[in-house]
Amino acid sequence: MSDNNVQIFDTTLRDGEQVPGCKLNTNQKLIIAERLDALGVNVIEAGFPVSSPGDFKSVEEISKLIKNATVCGLTRAVENDIKVAAEALKFAKKPRIHTGIGTSESHIKFKFNSDQDTILKRAYDAVAYAKSFVEDVEFYAEDAGRTDNEFLARICEAAIQAGATVLNIPDTTGYCLPSEYGEKMKYLMEHVRGIDKVILSCHCHNDLGLATANSIEGVINGARQIECTINGIGERAGNTALEEVVMILKQHPYLKLDTSINTQHLYGISQLVSDSMGIYTQPNKAIVGANAFAHSSGIHQDGVIKHRETYEIIDPKDVGVTESAIVLTARSGRAALAYRAKNVGYELTKLQLDDVYANFLTFADRKKEINDNDIHQIIETSQVYREIISA
Ligand code: KIV
Ligand code: ZN
Repeated sequence: MSDNNVQIFDTTLRDGEQVPGCKLNTNQKLIIAERLDALGVNVIEAGFPVSSPGDFKSVEEISKLIKNATVCGLTRAVENDIKVAAEALKFAKKPRIHTGIGTSESHIKFKFNSDQDTILKRAYDAVAYAKSFVEDVEFYAEDAGRTDNEFLARICEAAIQAGATVLNIPDTTGYCLPSEYGEKMKYLMEHVRGIDKVILSCHCHNDLGLATANSIEGVINGARQIECTINGIGERAGNTALEEVVMILKQHPYLKLDTSINTQHLYGISQLVSDSMGIYTQPNKAIVGANAFAHSSGIHQDGVIKHRETYEIIDPKDVGVTESAIVLTARSGRAALAYRAKNVGYELTKLQLDDVYANFLTFADRKKEINDNDIHQIIETSQVYREIISA
């Protein structure tokens, strides 16, 4: 499958929810699932139904609620997991079972005490069994990032023969370099029989801070689905951040890859997930962090006030942020002060600005950030105040 639309598979409610201490109840999950559907994700991984009665119920309720996206449930390559997932998904308009097994030498030896041929047969059987319940079956080769490419190609081929529609190639431990992960996708595109009939999927973890870069290399090399979470949350260092990959593809149109995401919903859903899970988003987080569109140094502020694009590659409105912020600190210049003063009602002449600016610097050296109230105070305590109010 090689059209240019990259499917967005959101796993905030499954891999994302594996963050220690961030359990969501069914109601919170339903609210997030509905917002993900409105955001335009193609697949919502709603949970791991066999893992607990609560997770089963969440997957079942989400299946009843969701109108557009495919709803997916995770399983191990175990018959009972698959049967329970099929039951939880039975109300979904578009159900998908996501089943798989560890394929790296380390997983085969230490997790399963097994061998490649046995693992290959378990993969085939799991996909075939899932296929007896639903048409759409995704196979994951856990720890594919550290799996030998030749064996990975063999197991992918077996999964296709058993009826898989999507092949997930997880870099479970976040180990790969972008070039290695891209090469892996390219190898599979060139060596797996029947690959043109299925979708290859990227599922990258962020242990080395490379999840986003690896997912982008994956789609450049033929994958057409990215598995990701809002704000990049997830176990350990997290998963690929949905907002990052979506905006990278949007801002680089020459890649000729796009998504169906309504990007103006990104900031709102980021806040919702952060509030519901009680996970604070780092201020410098790309796209959705509090400082992503904030300018505080004088040189940058002067540029942005003259022409936004001098220091911004994304229009904040495109991701649902109302406007860029001009933050006033002791590093700010006259242009920023004049701009913010104008926003609160003072049109300063050049001479007035010189006087107010001197007062501003004294204030700003005492206080980290100057707010609108402070601006009033700064102007009212400067020598030119009378002149300004009588103007
Ligand atoms: O990281 C991983 O390998 C996973 C699989 C279960 C898909 O989350
Ligand atoms: Zn994962």
